Amino acid sequence: IPMTVREILKMGDERLLRIAKPVLEFNTPELLDGIVDMKETMIAASGAGLAAPQIGWDIQLVIFGTGQIISRYPDAAPIPYTVLINPVITPIGDEMQHDWEGCLSVPGLRAVVPRWQHIQYTGFDEQGQRIERTASGFHAKVVQHECDHLIGILYPQRVRDFSKFGFNSVLFPNLAPEAND
Ligand code: NI
Repeated sequence: IPMTVREILKMGDERLLRIAKPVLEFNTPELLDGIVDMKETMIAASGAGLAAPQIGWDIQLVIFGTGQIISRYPDAAPIPYTVLINPVITPIGDEMQHDWEGCLSVPGLRAVVPRWQHIQYTGFDEQGQRIERTASGFHAKVVQHECDHLIGILYPQRVRDFSKFGFNSVLFPNLAPEAND
């Protein structure tokens, strides 16, 4: 299968603001090929996740995972590589986390964003097999961030304390340059 690193749309592009369409057919060549491209694109960008709308694909599909340590999040525990389609997130309890977040569609910036600390998420993989998991901390944060892309929300819309929103290179000057996107 030819793999293609796709262009990641940046904030301001109206295609990032759409409500994504549910996937109705699984295990199709179009779906599988698109997922291969998304994985290539995510790895090339050292991302922890990528949502289909970020490559202009208007469907409810996200991928995420940190099989290996990635430069953008060197301290995070690994998350299994996951394809999640038509996701539904349900908070567990009311505990919040407030942690730094970035986005490949908002390069160079980070902010502290409130997220649920514990969630359940459900959906389907590319074969149509049901996924049902609980997650906490970084894993829960990544899932909430990626699924926000499916309802046209980028993390700056979630920021409450704008004193904790700035440029990576200023906030974290000791991070490796490749993490500064
Ligand atoms: Ni993002």
